[in-house]
Amino acid sequence: MRWTGGYNAETGQDTMNTAGLRTLIVDSDEISREVLRSKVQRAGLVVDLERPHGLAAQQTIQEMEPDLLFIAVEQPLQRALQTVDFARAIVPDATIVAYTTEWSPMVERRLMQSGVNDFLHGKISSSQLSAVVGGARRKAAASATPALPDAGAQVIAVVGQKGGIGKTTTSTNLAAAIARDGRQSVLLIDLDTRFGDVAIMMDVASDYTVSEVAREVEGLDRETFRKLLLCHDSGACILPAPRDYRSWLNCTPEQIQDLVRFAAGMFDVVILDTPGTFNDVVAAAVEVASRVVVVTSSELPSLKNTALLLEHFSLKGLAEEQVIVTLIYGHDQEGPDRADVEFAIGHAVDHEVPFDRNVRKATQVGMPVTMWKPHAPAATAFFRIAAHATGLPASHEALGVTAVRRRFFGVFGSRKTTAAAAELDTIAV
Ligand SMILES: Nc1ncnc2c1ncn2[C@@H]1O[C@H](COP(=O)(O)OP(=O)(O)OP(=O)(O)O)[C@@H](O)[C@H]1O
Ligand SMILES: [Mg+2]
Repeated sequence: MRWTGGYNAETGQDTMNTAGLRTLIVDSDEISREVLRSKVQRAGLVVDLERPHGLAAQQTIQEMEPDLLFIAVEQPLQRALQTVDFARAIVPDATIVAYTTEWSPMVERRLMQSGVNDFLHGKISSSQLSAVVGGARRKAAASATPALPDAGAQVIAVVGQKGGIGKTTTSTNLAAAIARDGRQSVLLIDLDTRFGDVAIMMDVASDYTVSEVAREVEGLDRETFRKLLLCHDSGACILPAPRDYRSWLNCTPEQIQDLVRFAAGMFDVVILDTPGTFNDVVAAAVEVASRVVVVTSSELPSLKNTALLLEHFSLKGLAEEQVIVTLIYGHDQEGPDRADVEFAIGHAVDHEVPFDRNVRKATQVGMPVTMWKPHAPAATAFFRIAAHATGLPASHEALGVTAVRRRFFGVFGSRKTTAAAAELDTIAV
């Protein structure tokens, strides 16, 4: 039965929330529940129901399908995680806010992996709650609208739960590979909230970055948007990340989603590069993506995190065919093989990218390897992933070697770039 609101005997209030958000607090401590309820109410929201952790909470989540859940996190941690996992599975679009009196990085990381949207700790201020309520309202409004304005557009999020495993290498190479023969228009958006380095890898510099454009997206028209983008020699357009990570604080994950939707109405393919830790921005990217390329290395910490990430995606209801698992040997070819990796992550590996020095040589001069050496082993793998993600045949195979060579020297035929290409062959990596 779906909970429809009405008079709430527990609080004695009319539960038709003025904000239109069905709100639930799950906390086994009655006093802490009361404190939070009055703060939430001061932030302009009526709390509809309150439950302790356990079966009562789960039953209420099922019946009520809340838009906004506040979940207390105290020891044993497992109890709160169960509630979060259950809520994520039943109400995937809800805003889940975990709160605790004590902060630890381990708890925060585990909660973020479980898919909470916000994590509040210590003394919760009314401005924090107002921000949470505002975000939940925008999220509820956004999930009531269709995910993408143009059903034909592909949004590909490249994610991975560790730094330095080849996410940006994958994003930049997919962008170049897909844009290569001009059949598809491509935009690469750098959503790496820590050290966005798409611009460095593609050797471009811009005056405008994601956070600035996302903030203004409501009033943006197509022509202005195009002027803000960088055009790369590969044919792909680029919207770089801000150089200062604090700029991300000025835009919300919902604004980023609006930006991606806007871009998806203009480009055939939008690729989203992300940081190595799961945060609001990555969650927002995955939510609007039609395909998610999950990058993993064969190292143990990466495998463990990949297993958790895949579990999270499955709980969030991502279809199997949306997820493309890619194993990259970014440092050497040693370590567990494909079968071991599949066993460790509990999921099939769709593609392997071999260790290839050409990747680093290409990076040093700001060129994806799919442009610099389209027949290098890693480039071939990236063309295959691009074909898988877009459903089109791999473009270097479709064109044939001669045509590719002609195009390659057409793009880099100037004296300056030919010299640069010759110089590249001598770079030691
Ligand atoms: N197949 C490969 N062969 C050789 N080197 C590779 C390969 N793939 C990636 N690399 C190298 O690994 C390094 C890390 O790659 P990249 O920057 O793409 O990782 P990342 O996951 O985006 O890292 P971060 O999380 O810090 O943004 C780079 O120096 C890149 O050139
Ligand atoms: Mg990166």
